[in-house]
Amino acid sequence: MALLEVRDLVVEFDLPGGRVRAVDGVTFDVGTAEAVGLVGESGCGKTTTALAIMRLLPENGRIAAGSVLFDGEDLVAMKPGPLRRKRWSDLSIIFQGAMNALNPVRRVGDQVAEPILLHEPTVTRRGAWRRVGELFELVGINRDRRRDYPHQFSGGMRQRVMIAMALANRPRLVIGDEPTTALDVMVQAQILELLELLRSELGLAMILITHDLSVISETCDRAVVMYAGQVAETGTVEELYRRPLHPYTERLMRSVPDIGNIRRLPAGIPGHPPSLVRPPSGCRFHPRCDHAMETCRRTFPAERSFEPGHRVACHAVSDDGRRRAPSELPLLPSARALAQLDPLGEMPTLLDGAAAGLVAADGEIEGISAEGPP
Ligand SMILES: Nc1ncnc2c1ncn2[C@@H]1O[C@H](COP(=O)(O)OP(=O)(O)OP(=O)(O)O)[C@@H](O)[C@H]1O
Ligand code: SF4
Ligand SMILES: [Mg+2]
Repeated sequence: MALLEVRDLVVEFDLPGGRVRAVDGVTFDVGTAEAVGLVGESGCGKTTTALAIMRLLPENGRIAAGSVLFDGEDLVAMKPGPLRRKRWSDLSIIFQGAMNALNPVRRVGDQVAEPILLHEPTVTRRGAWRRVGELFELVGINRDRRRDYPHQFSGGMRQRVMIAMALANRPRLVIGDEPTTALDVMVQAQILELLELLRSELGLAMILITHDLSVISETCDRAVVMYAGQVAETGTVEELYRRPLHPYTERLMRSVPDIGNIRRLPAGIPGHPPSLVRPPSGCRFHPRCDHAMETCRRTFPAERSFEPGHRVACHAVSDDGRRRAPSELPLLPSARALAQLDPLGEMPTLLDGAAAGLVAADGEIEGISAEGPP
């Protein structure tokens, strides 16, 4: 049994004109002291998945189906009292954009002490203050700075404070939602090093949410690739880099800048993620996929396992775990057109896509519908 088992999680938001299913059947595990990356383009449901795990969805959101087992206990079914005791002390979260969420008129030390006093009634004020000092030193801040105010800290230091706050109740799992976005690369590297250190020293399990694959490769053991509210592929980071099976995973991999080839722009993914209010039928990636077939447009691909822990949902992957080449597949005209844009097997660069005016606002590739080019 893994420490965290997310099973068939479905999250919906009520909107004035209807309902949006932001997370649709997400399944993955996080083992003790394991770091798992949650990756995908903006709007694919990463934050929503994290908030659902924490049961901290906004008012218009709800978990419509599925379970979140933490140490075998289902957080989805848990009553508010026991849930409050578990939250922060067993699992905690560093929110997206958190470093700007510190209260500007309260000393940072008091803010970090607050969850300790709130969730651990046996700890005295003095004990909490002492623990804040230890936490500050753990995350690389001098304990004398407990009395300072947020404006006296740089962005990177404020993020360290937020990490200290997430660790305040000694949780076993921490979710970091884009913990290094908005920080410059040097500070980003320091924060990632810190997270890695905490993981090895405290045996912390971690879910790291990011759209930056280089962050995942440096920090995580495994990754869950999400597309439009669903899981496209899951596997060890090494396996996903070495042998991505889902065409979307491979596109994501190729969208990372190549430091050895500075004259070449990283390849983009043509089009945009679809609207989740009316997502595409079948495989949601089919309007952007150069492997798409008629079956992709009709049927959602069932998830299958290949190597232990390597799971993928894609019709182009054969039963022996090989992704067939577009030339072996009965492609949709749209996929053929996409493949033609990319005759050497490489996707067009961002420049090519933009210059050719290929990307339309609705997420389809301009001039290419599932029926093919006009
Ligand atoms: N409170 C809300 N009400 C309605 N829709 C929401 C709400 N919160 C999120 N959504 C929608 O749910 C989908 C998933 O959003 P989410 O914030 O989880 O994406 P994300 O992967 O974290 O994106 P990003 O990388 O930009 O942070 C999006 O379509 C978003 O518009
Ligand atoms: S081949 Fe089909 S199932 Fe696989 S990613 Fe492309 S559209 Fe989806
Ligand atoms: Mg997010």
